[in-house]
Amino acid sequence: MNAVDLITRKREGRELSASEIAYLIDGCTQGKIPDYQISALLMAIFFRGMNSREILALTESMVHSGQVVDLGHLSGLKVDKHSTGGVGDKTSLVVAPLVAAAGAYVPMISGRGLGFSGGTLDKLESIPGFNVRLSLSQFKGVLQNCGCAFIGQTEEIAPADRRLYALRDVTATVESIPLICASIMSKKVAEGIDGLVLDVKVGEGAFMRSLEEASDLAQSLVDIGNGMGTKTVAFISDMNQPLGLAVGNSLEVVEAIETLKGQGPEDLTHLCEKLAIKMLALASPPEKAGRAKEKIAHLLRSGEGLEKFRQIIQAQGGDPAVIDNYSRLPQASHRRDVLTQRSGYVVALNARKIGEASMALGAGREKVDSQIDYSVGILLRKKIGDFVEKDEPLATVHFNSESKFEEVQATVLNAFVVGPARVDPPSLIKSLVETSR
Ligand code: URA
Repeated sequence: MNAVDLITRKREGRELSASEIAYLIDGCTQGKIPDYQISALLMAIFFRGMNSREILALTESMVHSGQVVDLGHLSGLKVDKHSTGGVGDKTSLVVAPLVAAAGAYVPMISGRGLGFSGGTLDKLESIPGFNVRLSLSQFKGVLQNCGCAFIGQTEEIAPADRRLYALRDVTATVESIPLICASIMSKKVAEGIDGLVLDVKVGEGAFMRSLEEASDLAQSLVDIGNGMGTKTVAFISDMNQPLGLAVGNSLEVVEAIETLKGQGPEDLTHLCEKLAIKMLALASPPEKAGRAKEKIAHLLRSGEGLEKFRQIIQAQGGDPAVIDNYSRLPQASHRRDVLTQRSGYVVALNARKIGEASMALGAGREKVDSQIDYSVGILLRKKIGDFVEKDEPLATVHFNSESKFEEVQATVLNAFVVGPARVDPPSLIKSLVETSR
């Protein structure tokens, strides 16, 4: 076998066999195939696509490029949730403790924010002391004691993905369904989980802008997960407007805690309930799966989900007092409202623009190694369908430097479209993909 022949085959739109894909991925992981050939291969895949056999083989090879976490010491089902990324999406902080409080194990290996979209690890790190850099053995310990632990991707898990993702990032080959699928699923399958609930975001603030693309991605992810023996389902949910009201790391932690206290915004609470119920149903024997809804409602009402979050924060070195005292979280030095210039109804609220404004304030990263400011962000005061009087606040900006506020003010204002006639908010959950093709 040689790389040039295989690149040529893919360039011509022909299928690669499982052993050919394994040869390419091994060569990539071990540095035997140079970056320029891997880049050419990625571009060929970008344009020619891959069929389901190839995607499955690619995912398997990427899983086996590293370790599969052995969670065999835990006598219970392990289930995780993964979102394809959006603005204001803090669902992991709510659903992971809820599902762990229900008795399932949630080994959560999460990502950092990049560009306008936020990341679970950054949100958690805004809690003073919270350590997401646990070793695999510490991770397993917290998981055993608390039922849930959060870490970032380690060197050992799917190392092929690191190399491929770094090349995709600089060769304009990120937005490819086969490559996104294999990237996400290789890391999730390597976690050693039994079940996975995916939240594929669609809209202005998501990778996938159209429902058709999102459905395609959701179906491919479900096919691969199930094909690899992990029970997988995928929600497709709206990301035209941000989820909830808070955008920015510590602001989102507050909103997640409020949601665990039963006082969160309606859209965020609804999506968290749906995700948690599905995770619990996947992790339960069939005779108990039907009771998942009741159980999650009880854990939210009783505050047991909140107590679980407190326990996880403590176990990972964070300050658990943030649960009762939000002033212990990083606070921006200034707050200022962005006011509407006309009365009317909010008919559009562009999640991407709000995400970009939040990133420009310092809450997000432009490059993988940029430093972020946990305290800044945007608190939305209105969402699609709400009425607003002239000079009423649309959003409150939390910032630390006047020049940054000046820079983002217009973007925040332009993210809102105010019109004379009321429109309904977009439906939050578009569909649920539960079976393989
Ligand atoms: N998230 C991932 O982990 N990989 C992708 O390719 C896209 C989103």
